[in-house]
Amino acid sequence: MAIRKASPEAIAAAAEALRAGRLVAFPTETVYGLGADATNARAVAAIFAAKDRPRFNPLIVHVPDLAAAERLGAFTPLGRALAAAFWPGALTLVTARAPACPIADLATAGLDTVALRVPAHPVAQALLRAAACPVAAPSANRSGHVSPTTAAHVEADLGSRVDVILDGGPAPIGLESTVVDATGEEPAILRSGGIAREAIAQALGRPVEVARGDPGRPASPGMLARHYAPAARLRLGAREARPGEALLAFGPPAPHRGPMLNLSAAGDLAEAAANLFSHLRALDAAGAEAIAVMPIPEAGLGEAINDRLRRAARRP
Ligand code: TXA
Ligand code: MG
Repeated sequence: MAIRKASPEAIAAAAEALRAGRLVAFPTETVYGLGADATNARAVAAIFAAKDRPRFNPLIVHVPDLAAAERLGAFTPLGRALAAAFWPGALTLVTARAPACPIADLATAGLDTVALRVPAHPVAQALLRAAACPVAAPSANRSGHVSPTTAAHVEADLGSRVDVILDGGPAPIGLESTVVDATGEEPAILRSGGIAREAIAQALGRPVEVARGDPGRPASPGMLARHYAPAARLRLGAREARPGEALLAFGPPAPHRGPMLNLSAAGDLAEAAANLFSHLRALDAAGAEAIAVMPIPEAGLGEAINDRLRRAARRP
């Protein structure tokens, strides 16, 4: 039985599991999260695998307080005002990544921004302090299922896919956090949630927009427009690179002379997911005009990898 009552001993063991790169489900005041060390790309890849997520959406990174958040994100005055008003609590703030931000590219889906949250739940607080690493955590359910508000929901949905489920009782809010873009001067609500727009407007003393519905500002940042897109063209399913192309290999690499990186020489999809965004960035930075990408099997995490590659290849 993976469920453990959230005693101090269980929290300490769960923190240890997180540091070792394993998955821990834990209560927050909104919903239960499926957590992994956000600086460990392999651990973050395991989140996507456990959820059967067909695409890589950027994840919320959880920390115990504003000081920890400021090591990861570059806070604007707006971000600080919102943190002062609502942290700890059901508010997630999107900020620019801080210069030395150690968060894995897979956790932010390659974006230059990071979504940060300081949960108020005492078990989440204790776990984050004990783990002493930022914890990436989407809701602890399979993709397409409803968010879990009890440990039993998590167990029913994810079962043995998660190493530890900390039981802290029912999540009191039962609705995900409100996600606010605080990168600029004007706040924009990217996802409605546990904290109402009116409460945010009241705290700031001015109206707050909901970004939904405006095609220039997609409500779901999982959408293409907000994703990292390489400057280089991508050619998918390539058996080999043409002259002038860089090669993004998978499995035994095709013979190649120019810039080449391998998502996973062993053909391991979790390793490939962990490397995807950072390898794309690195080949882009090497100045390639086009990147030939070897075929990735359309199974397991390969589905999400191919989804991301197809969307990156389709851009104008
Ligand atoms: O209540 C919650 O927020 C729960 C608990 C576990 O904290 N977590 C949660 O995480 O719902 P997740 O990963 O399911 O939701 C992440 C949301 C998505 O809407 C995602 O698009 C947005 O946050 N998001 C994450 N990173 C972003 C970024 N860099 N820019 C804009 N939006 C981002
Ligand atoms: Mg969710």
